This record gives sequence, structure tokens and C-alpha cells, in this order.
Amino acid sequence: MDHFSYVDGAMQVEQVPMEAIAQAVGTPVYVYSTATLERHVGVFRDGLAQLDDPLIAFAVKANPNAAVLATLAKLGLGADVVSGGELLRAVAAGIPASRIVFSGVGKTAEEMRLALDHGIYQFNLESEPEAEMLSQVAASLGKRAPVAFRINPDVDAGTHAKISTGKSENKFGIPYDRALDSYAAARDLPGLDVQGVAVHIGSQLTDLAPLEAAFVKVGALIDALRAAGHDIRTADLGGGLGVPYDPAQPLPPSPADYGAMVCRVTQDWPVRLMFEPGRVIVGNAGVLLSRVIRVKQGAQAPFVIVDAAMNDLMRPSLYDAWHDIRAVKPSGARATANVVGPVCETGDTFAMHRDMDVVQADDLVAFMTAGAYGATMAGTYNSRPLTPEVLVSGDKWAVVRDRPPLRALIDGDIIPDWLAD
Ligand code: LLP
Repeated sequence: MDHFSYVDGAMQVEQVPMEAIAQAVGTPVYVYSTATLERHVGVFRDGLAQLDDPLIAFAVKANPNAAVLATLAKLGLGADVVSGGELLRAVAAGIPASRIVFSGVGKTAEEMRLALDHGIYQFNLESEPEAEMLSQVAASLGKRAPVAFRINPDVDAGTHAKISTGKSENKFGIPYDRALDSYAAARDLPGLDVQGVAVHIGSQLTDLAPLEAAFVKVGALIDALRAAGHDIRTADLGGGLGVPYDPAQPLPPSPADYGAMVCRVTQDWPVRLMFEPGRVIVGNAGVLLSRVIRVKQGAQAPFVIVDAAMNDLMRPSLYDAWHDIRAVKPSGARATANVVGPVCETGDTFAMHRDMDVVQADDLVAFMTAGAYGATMAGTYNSRPLTPEVLVSGDKWAVVRDRPPLRALIDGDIIPDWLAD
């Protein structure tokens, strides 16, 4: 459920008309709803209410805007970070280091030092060489780094190949069958305190079965590790729960269904559970608001050319992702259309042969469910500036990232001496 609704025939976000935001800030612009963020955190937390003090670490990659992070920090969430940049953003937004976990296959020594200086809760290690490097870095600072190994359970998440992470051929984690050896080697490393096990098999999962299969494997590994004398105290079950994008599709499992499965599978585990939800917290809390530039007749269907493009919202061109496209002021008429951006490649397509509200030049449209992996994945292809972002709370709203001036795109480049006159 979200707080984007039609009032007197026009879309509002909470109590703010979309039209007012478009008028003031221009388009394209990402618009986020605080009430929706709060609701999703509440629902996720309620699903885990039976657990003792779980750590819910928001996957910052899904939406790293400082205002979004500060909202989630106020609600008590931690952060799952994958770079020094994300770590600093989380800390700056008020998320305590004691609630930060650092994931990712390619942490550098510099990033490890930064995270150790902040005293984060856990590093999720993805290989033995990484464990050795972290041990060295920690030992050189006179510290012991709290770590888990992310295991690769070889489970097919049943999601898009580009966001599946738990198959043995994927780059993530240590192979399940090598786990006991990797833990044994890590125990002898002076700079590590081996405290946990982690898993994350992919994103936008619409079936709980692969998650359950992975968690069952984690449970068996915890038993084996404890039997081998490892003091395993944490289990990080990752993120991955899907959200509804297409109203015509069956609903994905709810956070309540997910929580019930987690509680059932983990009931005897002698550990603190950790979670890294991203999309389920922010996905439906954001839309990309865009204006129709013109409508052009096509051979089969009209092309609705909007002022947002693949550089602003990459998901359709990258993963053939489906985003609902709604007119901000629907006339009531519907027809089939293709929705495309102005970028000069065919991949800059948001929808083909879509049954949608009939729109014309200057109308506003909203790309729904764009709060996760939207603005954060934007780029400046075709020399288009990064998309601004707005956060709404009740009847208040604020620009939380400005649209950079076009000049900034040009001034960032440097012409070397030998080309300057
Ligand atoms: N933990 C780890 C280690 C991850 O790699 C991810 C996402 C998450 C947690 C959060 O997963 P979520 O709950 O959001 O599914 N750009 C893609 C999604 C990439 C996900 C990458 N990892 C998309 O737009 O669909």
C-alpha cells in the first residue's frame, strides 16, 4: 500500500498535488512519500515481531538519499552498505555504526579501514583472500573485525538473471561446501572475530520457497559451525523480498508471510537475526514524475515521448522491468501506446503496447514503484543532468536533491593544457 492517490481527479502524494511539485521543481523528478516509508518499516517490523531484537539494516543501495536515510534512521533502522560512500552516507544520516553491516565482494583496504574506524557491527566477507586482507588491516589498527561469511547456497532465486546472486556460478559468497574450511582458516586470523553467517540470494523474489531453502542451509551450517567450536552469534538473512509492480500480476508474498516463514525456520537458532531489506522498504514509496513532450504517430501504436529517459530510470532498459505508468490527471480514456524517452537508442523504452491512460503533450505521468533502484542508478547519458528528488510528509514537501545546472555537466570536464589555446 502507498500514499499516492487520486483526489478530485488528480494524483496526490499524501496531501500534496503532484502538479504543484512539477510546477515548482520541473520534471523529471523523483517524489517520495514519508508516510509510505513509515508504513513499510512498520509492516516489515511487525512481520518479525516474534524475534528477539532483530537488526533491520536497510540496503542503502536501493535509495541512498540523505533525507530518506534520515527518515529510516529515525525509525530505528540500521544500514547495509556496500562501499565507503554508502557507509559515510548512512553515518551522516544518523544511522549508528552499531547498526551497520558492510557487504560486497570488492571491499578495498581503504574501505575496511574506514569501517573499522567507525566501529561497524559486522563485515560480511565473501572470500578467503578478503578475510586475510581484513585481518591484516584490523591487526595493523590493533583491532579485531567482527565478521560473518556470506555463503553461496546454490539456490535459484527464480528472479531476473541480472539480480540473482545465490547460484554457484554467481560471483557472490563462498561456496557452501567450502564453508567449514573457510571458517576454520578465518579462526586462525588474528584480526578477525568470527561471529556470524550471512546469505542473500537475489532481489525481487516473488516466491518464498528459494529463500526458505537458503535459510534451511544456513541453519544446518550454523549447527555444523557451532559443533566445530565456532561461536556463531549472528545470522544475516539478507534482503530480496519482492514488491508489486504490475497490478495485473499476483501479489508477491507479504512481509507478514515472509516473517512467518523466517520465524518458523529459525525458531531454534541460537543467534541474533539480521535482515537487509531494500526494495520492500522504499519501492512503492517513490514515483518518477515526468511530463509528456509530444505524442508521435507510430506504425502500430502512438509513441508517447516523455521527458524522463533511461538515464533517469534504468530498470526497464536494464532488466525489462515493468513500471505502472499513470496519468496524473486521467481523462478516463484508455488506449494502447508505447512510452519512450528522448535518449537516442531503442533501449530507451519504458513500455511497448501498453494499455494505459490516454495522454497528450504537456500532461504529467507518474512511473510508479520507482523509489527503489531509481534515482540511485541514474546517470547523465546524453548529457542529461541527474534527476532531482523531493520528499513529502503530510502537506509539507522539500527538494532533497536539487537538479544540477546543465553547466555543471560541462564544467566537470577538464581540457588539458595541450588542447587549450
Ligand atoms: N543485501 C545485499 C547483499 C544485496 O546485494 C541486496 C541487493 C540487498 C541486500 C537488497 O535487496 P532488496 O531487498 O532490495 O531486494 N538494481 C536492481 C536490484 C539490485 C539488487 C542488488 N542487491 C533492480 O533495480 O531491480
